[in-house]
Amino acid sequence: MSKKIAIGGDHGGYEYKGKIIPWLEEKGYQVKDFGPFKEGAVDYPDHVHPLCDAIESKEYDLGILICGSGNGVAITANKHKGIRAALCWNAELAKLARAHNNANVICLGARFTGLEFAQTMILEFLQTDFEGGRHQTRVDKINC
Ligand code: RB5
Repeated sequence: MSKKIAIGGDHGGYEYKGKIIPWLEEKGYQVKDFGPFKEGAVDYPDHVHPLCDAIESKEYDLGILICGSGNGVAITANKHKGIRAALCWNAELAKLARAHNNANVICLGARFTGLEFAQTMILEFLQTDFEGGRHQTRVDKINC
């Protein structure tokens, strides 16, 4: 079965989000948009928290968060115990975030990443499995 993907962010990521959703759907992913749903300034935690709740409850498998820098959404998402959110700016990092850290959310900074490059990172992230083993031992020690 295809992975269920949750996507959201703030006004900094709004344009990219609107292009990434149909692109992912064409590839067969089920995508749920957690907003924002129109242009204009919003507070990213208002969209990040509901998305993270939905991943923690296993309603969605993986998340994509996009704001201007990627940092606001990443910092917020990582307050959730069940979320491992990785700020990525390189395709290899996106792959390693899944393979080694079992990251379940990728965070992107639309103001610092071209759309095509963001899409490359997203595909690496969605198509890579967690390696487990010694990495599972480490991931198990993350939460405070
Ligand atoms: C919005 O201007 C910007 O601050 C936001 O998108 C994000 O970069 C915050 O971390």
